[in-house]
Amino acid sequence: MSDTKAVVFDLYGTLYDVHSVVQRCDASYPGRGMEISAMWRQKQLEYTWLRSLMGRYVSFEQATHDALVYVCNHLKLDLDKTTCSELCDAYLQLSPYPEVPEALQRLNSAGLPLAILSNGSVFSIDSVVKSSGLHEKFAHLLSVEAVGVFKPHPRVYALACQALGVLPHEILFVSSNAWDISGARHFGFQTCWVNRSDNTFDELGATPQAVIGGLDELPALINARGV
Ligand code: 2OP
Repeated sequence: MSDTKAVVFDLYGTLYDVHSVVQRCDASYPGRGMEISAMWRQKQLEYTWLRSLMGRYVSFEQATHDALVYVCNHLKLDLDKTTCSELCDAYLQLSPYPEVPEALQRLNSAGLPLAILSNGSVFSIDSVVKSSGLHEKFAHLLSVEAVGVFKPHPRVYALACQALGVLPHEILFVSSNAWDISGARHFGFQTCWVNRSDNTFDELGATPQAVIGGLDELPALINARGV
């Protein structure tokens, strides 16, 4: 990783915990929070991939909304307008994983530019990052909105090279999502998979150069590789 000139992060599930919404789901549907959250996230991702294949881009908020409607229909849960908008709003205020603020601080001190490259819209990314107070840590917040297609489409990864003015192999891309790491690796980024929960990596023809258990391991990894 000695060519690394910038570190680019995925947002949902990597820096921020999508299951921060469990509590809010539990408040409306007692005891069902985790089940709803897990299915919601899975469906949200499927909708982004399917919409990309269909050439029918909608904002991440819309995909998130549509996924929630599906989940409630599927689980036969009544979803009124107020509950729907409160649950979708919870997605705009996710919590960072506990080790994230300090890890970003240490990377800032090392002087590497940091960016987020996310399937979120400009509005969603801004809302999540600002509500956690981590806005200043990043040189760029990059949304797929600019290209109207979701990750793992290569056009999205190209956005990071354009914004940072660097070549693909000069970016270290960090994500917890194995499918995202696979897309980024095929594009030509160096990649680091954050595997917090002993997950299995996807079989998509690419493997990450590094695997860590949490972001607290990233500064040492970058130092060890001679950046
Ligand atoms: C992202 O932040 C959806 O986790 C994915 O782009």
